[in-house]
Amino acid sequence: MSTSTPAGARGARLGLGVDIGGSGIKAAPVDLAAGHFAAERVREVTPQPATPAAVAPVVAQVLASFEVADDTPVGITFPAVIQHGIARSAANVDDSWIGTDAEALFADALGRDVLVVNDADAAGYAETVFGAAKGVHGVVLVTTLGTGIGSALIVDGKLVPNTELGHLEIDGHDAEKKAADAARERHDLSWSQWAKRLQRYYSHVEDLLWPDLIVVGGGVSKKHEKFLPLLDLRTPIVPAQLRNDAGIIGAASLAAAAAGRDPREV
Ligand code: BGC
Repeated sequence: MSTSTPAGARGARLGLGVDIGGSGIKAAPVDLAAGHFAAERVREVTPQPATPAAVAPVVAQVLASFEVADDTPVGITFPAVIQHGIARSAANVDDSWIGTDAEALFADALGRDVLVVNDADAAGYAETVFGAAKGVHGVVLVTTLGTGIGSALIVDGKLVPNTELGHLEIDGHDAEKKAADAARERHDLSWSQWAKRLQRYYSHVEDLLWPDLIVVGGGVSKKHEKFLPLLDLRTPIVPAQLRNDAGIIGAASLAAAAAGRDPREV
């Protein structure tokens, strides 16, 4: 793998974001003021089984592709509840993550401090600072539709972490098992059949939270015109703008914010 320097970003404040997913581990330097990648993204295949011991060296390998200054904030996303750096759930990941101090694990593997956050929280934060919910005050709910349903709740720009609204029990079922994009694929649902399930899900969520805006992310959001117009909600619902980049951009931005820097003013 070649060493890449963040060309074209001279003078910009950089962060580094890493997105750990079920199939790939992706990373890129992020221009924290502009909210976009400062160099091309690097991707490695997620090892299977994706245990902490197997994943940590791959994250280190991905990071080694970049020249990262000692004071560059590094944020890492993981698809589980992450409470103060510790993984607390494992809906679609290896069970051995539960109770793992992910921040200590990666700090050890990388030889530097990192921030570890839930994947949807990172993506949602990025959409709020740089994307579809930029400048929106009040209660913003960002959902990601993929293998599961991820959720991020942002209130006046402040993230309320680990809302896990994909696991609401609706009609006796774990909501994501019925309404995630993986359920659409698994059951070969038409767009209108899937939209009925999304309607049930989002109307329940809007009754619970009364958000000002709902943002829909995840890979399928690039086909938003196939299903968003079929939904009848009182809340405005819009597609995400940063798409696949949101996790990496959000992780880097949250790491910068945790280090006391406003990502928009660095
Ligand atoms: C997990 C969440 C995650 C979401 C999207 C859910 O199954 O519980 O932590 O954010 O999937 O990856």
